[in-house]
Amino acid sequence: MVATMPSLIDLRSDTVTRPSAGMRQAMAGAEVGDDVFGEDPTVRRLEERVARMLGKDSALLCPSGTMANLIGVASATYPGDEVLLDSESHILHYELAGTALIAGVQVRNFDAPQAGCPTQAQLESLERLGDPDHEPRTALLCLEQSHNRRGGTVATIEELRSASEAAHRMGLVVHLDGARLANAAASLGVPMTEFTDCVDSSTFALSKGLGCPAGTLWVGLTESRRRAHTWRKRLGGGMRQVGILAAAGLYALDHNLARLDEDHDNARQLAEMLQSVPGVTVDPPAVQTNIVLLQTVDDANVIVERAQRAGVLTVPFTAHTVRCVTHLDVGSEDVRAAGERLRQVFAS
Ligand SMILES: Cc1ncc(COP(=O)(O)O)c(C=O)c1O
Repeated sequence: MVATMPSLIDLRSDTVTRPSAGMRQAMAGAEVGDDVFGEDPTVRRLEERVARMLGKDSALLCPSGTMANLIGVASATYPGDEVLLDSESHILHYELAGTALIAGVQVRNFDAPQAGCPTQAQLESLERLGDPDHEPRTALLCLEQSHNRRGGTVATIEELRSASEAAHRMGLVVHLDGARLANAAASLGVPMTEFTDCVDSSTFALSKGLGCPAGTLWVGLTESRRRAHTWRKRLGGGMRQVGILAAAGLYALDHNLARLDEDHDNARQLAEMLQSVPGVTVDPPAVQTNIVLLQTVDDANVIVERAQRAGVLTVPFTAHTVRCVTHLDVGSEDVRAAGERLRQVFAS
């Protein structure tokens, strides 16, 4: 008898989804123009819609979240400025030091509570004396909602507002990495504007929980869009008949936004299946969105390899943390099967 491999269940990221037939059809039928000249009608519709959803007056479609964050940082700072970031933030860990290399800014860390949002006292403790002969100018605070490396956790509206207020009092601009802003809003059952009203700019990803092949929007005020637009071109992010991608985004807003709770329920189900398994620690009530962090006794790389052999793809996050992410392309049956396979992995 030939042993059959179980079909792979891919929990590495919510970026692994493939565009559905309906999304592809919307893309094929998109009305397009040259977006570098501002002439793509579908891009304009998407930008207007996302700006409205986030309560801002303008948006800019970028190829990726990394670029949209860098645009957020570069357009709110000047080389030699300083940016305040949580020690676990995506910008700090996974964006190849673009802030330093390209925007030319210095990063100063704080170690925020669980959802990655600093307290007022924490921010105020970072306030500089204002000595221009020795100190850099602190120009920007970056927040992240939901927070990836902190397990998809969601800061409360009050926490975000309080941090933004303190930052504004200190004369800082506030940028929000909103790669999974829609997940955070679904988790608390509030409109996204509750998180963005208090910040100056935000990102909003189409290519994660919403199932699009690419695209993140920078969102902010019209007076900041001019600089953001210049930075997008400088970074090579000026795209032409990109209404094809914008059509995927519009389709996702109509069809995939309202279902994110399913991903969150599946993530919690996975955590519950693994909570009393020896060799792994996971706290189901701490799972607020679609990310599950497993603290492992064994080396995370070893667990990831064993899980792959058992037909579940995951990623090592730290030496003893494995990340699983639920998404549009894995249903509750898949997640239950993944949970069973991972139980076997930890038992072996
Ligand atoms: C919180 C967060 N911000 C930004 C990004 C960067 O997005 P992209 O992969 O589109 O560059 C990611 C990617 O996973 C992310 O998780």
